[in-house]
This record gives sequence, C-alpha cells and structure tokens, in this order.
Amino acid sequence: MKQVGFVGWRGMVGSVLMQRMREENDFSLIESVFFSTSQVGEKGPDIGREAGLLKDAYDIAALREMDIIISCQGGDYTGDVFKKLRESGWQGYWIDAASTLRMSDDAIIILDPVNRSVIDDALNKGVKNYIGGNCTVSLMLMAVGGLFDQDMVEWASIMTYQAASGAGAQNMRELLQQMGETHDVAKDLLEDPASNILDIDRKVAEKLRDKEFPAQNFGVPLAGSLIPWIDREVAHGQSREEWKGQAETNKILGHGDDPVPVDGICVRVGAMRCHSQALTIKLKKDIPLEKIEEIIAASNKWVHVIPNEREATTRELTPVAVTGKLDIHVGRIRKLNMGSEYLSVFTVGDQLLWGAAEPLRRMLRILVE
Ligand code: HSE
Repeated sequence: MKQVGFVGWRGMVGSVLMQRMREENDFSLIESVFFSTSQVGEKGPDIGREAGLLKDAYDIAALREMDIIISCQGGDYTGDVFKKLRESGWQGYWIDAASTLRMSDDAIIILDPVNRSVIDDALNKGVKNYIGGNCTVSLMLMAVGGLFDQDMVEWASIMTYQAASGAGAQNMRELLQQMGETHDVAKDLLEDPASNILDIDRKVAEKLRDKEFPAQNFGVPLAGSLIPWIDREVAHGQSREEWKGQAETNKILGHGDDPVPVDGICVRVGAMRCHSQALTIKLKKDIPLEKIEEIIAASNKWVHVIPNEREATTRELTPVAVTGKLDIHVGRIRKLNMGSEYLSVFTVGDQLLWGAAEPLRRMLRILVE
C-alpha cells in the first residue's frame, strides 16, 4: 500500500476531504500518515482505523518517506516546504489545494471529470505535481465543460456570485455575525406589524455603516450588501480571481497555445458555501438549445440541467438547493437577444466539494487504484 501523508487536514477544506474520504472508504486503500504544523505527537483524526501520532509537517525526512502527499495547508506552507522537499530528491506525488504551484509548467490542474486525458498524459510523462483548481473555474467547467470539450465556445463572460467559504472559515463566521447584528437592530420594529419599513431600513443601514460593525475579515459588510472584488489586483483593473478564469480554464483543458477568452466580474455575496455563476457564452456557431442541453447533461454524472422555468429555477438553481452536495446544477439555458450564437447559463456548485476537496480525493484514487 502507498504511504500517503496528509497536511492541513484539520482546516475547512481538509475536513471536507477527510469526510469525503471516509464516505468513499478511501482510507482502506492507503497507509495514512498525518502531519501537523502545530500539534506534533498528538493523535490523528478518526479515519475508522489506526492513524498513528501526528508528525511534524516541516520535517523533510519524514515527508520524504511518503509516496504521495496531499496538502490543504495553504500557499505559505507549500511555499516553505515543497521546494526543499523536491531539492532533497523526493520523487513522490504532490497533491495540493493551494494555488502556489498551479501555473507551473511541471504541474497539472486536476479536475478529472473534465480533463482526465490531460491527467493521464501527464502521468505517462512522469509529471509529479497535481494541483486543485480555483473553485469558480472548477465549478464552471464541471457545469459547461462539455461545450468546451466539443470546441463550441468562442468566448465566455462570467459573472460570479461567490460564497463566504471561498474567503475562509473565519469569513463564514463573520457573515453570520453580520446577519445576526443586522437582525438584532431591527428586531423590535420587525415584531411590530404596524412599524414603518423605512424606519427599519434606516436602522439597518445605520448598523451596516457603523464603525463597530463586525468586518475584520471581509473589511466591509457582506450581509445586506455584496463585494464586487475578490483577491488582489493583477493588472488593468482585473482581480486575480478574474484573471484565473481564463488562465486556469485553458490550462485545465490543455489549450496552452490557443486560449479561449474568458473574463468577467467576480463578486462575493452572502451565501455560505456555494458559488453561483452567470455565464454569457458566444458559441462558434448556432447550435439548437436541445442539443446544448443534451451536451451539458451528458458531460458528467453530477450535472443536473434545471428546466428554464420559474418554479424549477427558484427551487433548484440556488445555493440552498445544492449546499453539501456534489451535484452541479445548471439552468437558465437560453439564447440571448444578441443573437442565436449567444447563450446564457446559470450554474451553482458547492465550493468546498468540487471547488476544493473532491478533485484532490479523486486524484489520490487515480494514483492508488
Ligand atoms: N478564491 C476563491 C474565492 C476560493 O475567494 O471564493 C478558492 O478557490
């Protein structure tokens, strides 16, 4: 059995990974070794079998004994350890959720339902670094990868509605604190059916603008508002999250020399852990809607096409419908007024599952089966 080292398994993405691995009985296929940056020598997580005591995540000699390492520890850890480990001569497989190595020439972005052939090709060539993609990109390709696969997309403009979880666990907590405080300030007026809605609104606005309003993590209120900027600026007013749309999409698909233009505006909204995205796709030619729906529905077994009707859409095409599930919901599929080659699509997926943990777990499976 392969020795697999886990780093960062206690954090949010790591915990989802552990949960999914238990559900899929993955731990029975490997010898698991758990590492820690802070609790060396303590007990490892419950994986349904003996896990041993935690080893030091900075101990290169201990890491070198692993055939495979999966890190959900974050970019700083990857930056600290990966190079030293490779320089020590380690030849194992490195699977990582952080973006640090994603665009390196010797790394593949993993999303096997979409790019299994790219992964297989890399394995045959001896590539050893397999990195999870940006969550919005992975969720977008899980939704409409079939259209890219059939070379139908001339360009795509993507407007995102990204959940708090993408910013981290503390941000999810902060969103709920913000919601709570916002409700508290209006509570008495809300309980009085005769109160004036504009009085309620004024109190809420004052609260949201209060300097004491809890916003240490987001920097500004997200509850009752939104934040149309995610991550730092790259250049020309484009955020890094927006930049990843084109860069990672084309790398995942193996389109190095002939990239499909992808761009849009990435926005944080007050959802918990599901990212939603509104796509405008310029098709290379006019393709009937039924055919488009067929291709999307057939592209992988997690995609569900939601009929473009009010009732089904409001019930099924939402973060609430999808949260905690591997299902990728795709709807609002219709041709736009701009012409029969302009397609609209709306999609929702769980940012912690297909957007983070699941591609890592599946890459491990590919390596050990
Ligand atoms: N960058 C993403 C976000 C999450 O902020 O929502 C990680 O891919």
